[in-house]
Amino acid sequence: MRICRATDYNDMSRKAAQIILAQIIMKPNCVLGLATGSSPIGTYEQLIEWYNKDELDFSEVTSINLDEYKGLSPEDPQSYRYFMNTYLFDHVNIDKNRTFVPDGLATDSEKSCAEYNANILKQGGIDLQLLGIGRNGHIGFNEPGTVFKKETHCVDLTESTIEANKRFFASEADVPRQAYSLGIKNIMQARKILVVASGEDKADALYNAVYGEITPEVPASILQLHNDVIIVADEAALKRF
Ligand code: GLP
Repeated sequence: MRICRATDYNDMSRKAAQIILAQIIMKPNCVLGLATGSSPIGTYEQLIEWYNKDELDFSEVTSINLDEYKGLSPEDPQSYRYFMNTYLFDHVNIDKNRTFVPDGLATDSEKSCAEYNANILKQGGIDLQLLGIGRNGHIGFNEPGTVFKKETHCVDLTESTIEANKRFFASEADVPRQAYSLGIKNIMQARKILVVASGEDKADALYNAVYGEITPEVPASILQLHNDVIIVADEAALKRF
């Protein structure tokens, strides 16, 4: 695992965006695994800035998102599809037909998850997976304390995640209790993994992910077994390093 130290959120975002830029330059038709949450927003803003300066072209890029709340429609402002449109897709020349986010409204969860997995293979696998990290060490919505799920699956969110994510909803009661998420195998099969982390509330999770035991108690710890992981984090998130 390589650690790239950033001074603050803006510096982290710029460095992370540079890695994505390099990926798209090296392979214009790459498959990006994308993430939501507050951590990658600055990275997306930087990518949009470069796109507006003609330094970046998304026309051949495919994207596969990590997760989605169960029960939310793509038009719901809290859905991750809406988030991706708002923070990236609506501002660049990506072909929306090649942007994939799990279907929050799927009536047959199992079938929908199986199709999502099959599509990852059909697209040729993920070249670069962008990840945030939950305060409890989750990646995607792979929550601590359960066995590692291999592929896309439906998850019961933990209290800690519901608490952390309630800031995006009118009240805690509005936070969905379930979500769809790529599994650990899907994530680990990405050819390269880029983790972004900012702020002191990620310090313990990041430290445990990098130096702790590899355990489902800290899902991000599995990344120690991947041979091409770069963590771009700011001083606050790296304060225990
Ligand atoms: C959410 C998402 C994760 C994200 C994490 C951290 O629950 N499912 O993919 O990485 O929480 O979010 P944030 O970056 O807002 O701290």
